[in-house]
Amino acid sequence: MSTLHRGHIFHLTGRPSVDDAADALVEIPDGALLIDDQGLIEWCGRFAERPQRTGAPIEVIDHGDSFILPGFVDTHIHFPQVNSIDAYGGGQLLEWLESCIFPAEARLAEEEFAAGAAREFCHRLISAGTTTSLVFGSAFPVAQTALFSEYRRRGLRGVIGRGIQTVGPDAARPLMTSEEDAIRLTQEEIDRWHPSTPEEAADALVYAAIVPRFSLSVTTRTLAALGELYDQYRDAGVYFTSHLNENNRSGDGEIAAVLELFEVESYLDTYDGRFLPGSKPGGSTLLGRRSVMAHCVHCTDAELARLAETETSVAHCPNSQLFLGSGTMPWRRTIASGVNVAAGTDFAAGDSWFIPYVLNTAFKAHISEPEPHGVSLHPAQLLHLGTLAGARALDLEDRIGNFDAGKEADMVIIDPARWEPLANSLEWGLRADDPAKQTHGRLFTLLMACNEVAVAEIYVRGRRLR
Ligand code: GUN
Ligand code: ZN
Repeated sequence: MSTLHRGHIFHLTGRPSVDDAADALVEIPDGALLIDDQGLIEWCGRFAERPQRTGAPIEVIDHGDSFILPGFVDTHIHFPQVNSIDAYGGGQLLEWLESCIFPAEARLAEEEFAAGAAREFCHRLISAGTTTSLVFGSAFPVAQTALFSEYRRRGLRGVIGRGIQTVGPDAARPLMTSEEDAIRLTQEEIDRWHPSTPEEAADALVYAAIVPRFSLSVTTRTLAALGELYDQYRDAGVYFTSHLNENNRSGDGEIAAVLELFEVESYLDTYDGRFLPGSKPGGSTLLGRRSVMAHCVHCTDAELARLAETETSVAHCPNSQLFLGSGTMPWRRTIASGVNVAAGTDFAAGDSWFIPYVLNTAFKAHISEPEPHGVSLHPAQLLHLGTLAGARALDLEDRIGNFDAGKEADMVIIDPARWEPLANSLEWGLRADDPAKQTHGRLFTLLMACNEVAVAEIYVRGRRLR
């Protein structure tokens, strides 16, 4: 049976760039989404103009004053850090990893603990209205099995890959494997969980990814072998993700370490097959339209151009960048390069599971960039960052990201009555006389003042998960 969801709709129609997002913004105060029995959107418009059917019944779900938004897309989050928001490492990225994160992630070797972590992880995503996620997984196959299984059981959409580490400090030892095991375990995971035919891939909700933790966790040998592995699986739609140019602590942090260790001209070269001294080619590139690089706070113009050229996306994680003192991704310069920028929580370096809170932080971070770089992001650009850009980053824009007819109905229902500050701001906040400005003001209020407790329901491909 088809279902008609009635509520206050916001989405971005078409395939706008982030700079064109305001023109693509659609608000339908008394709106409706007609969803067929396969979970596909048949129609989106004003409730009063809903298609009338003779014969086939339509179930109507009236969400009252609640908002209906496309499900949030989190393009960067860490499964084995599900309980690591407590982490105080006494320093920035490398210290935090060593003193807090590697030991926390090591606990997932234990099967029962890992199963609990997988349940908790999916529960948190659903509670936060995240319908699709790109996940840095655990090093341990038992934990990965628990997570893939839990995604399938709950009906979440996502891309997951085991965290690959073949070198590292002592604290990382429990997470490390030999070069051979790294490739074998990754390949086994892909063979087990990634759809095996193009038909299955077109219909699946869960996919696999190749995920080296970052360049400092692997050797040139591992990078070469991962390039070969990706050559083998790229056409099957397998993803690639890692961290890039995240933390530059006074010039002696992660980035300096990568440049010194590999003797490369740029950090990106290590993922682009040019990982030998002098950035000489040593293997295949890991970049492409199913590749997502997290952070990109300190990219050079040449690196941004190469990301754009290869259609690699950026997972922008401003909460994490503040938490670890990593800096601010330069908004204007990154967008001007043509690269697609999507939102990521980067939990647990990011301190929230809730994509609107990441958007809130992005607004504050980019308006605070030093002149002349500061920018006041439009609410439609914020919505783009948290929905459509995420769909694009995962090469799923034909299927999700907005409410255009034919797409799969991934949506989040936000009930302002569950969070008084939001309800009050929507009710009593001053609004301009101009209708377009009213729309922008309402969306800004919704995204900036929302709290996770206001997430009432979420749907993936028309199926309610909560
Ligand atoms: N770089 C390498 N590993 C990590 C991680 O777990 N979190 C973040 N934010 N950056 C990383
Ligand atoms: Zn991360």
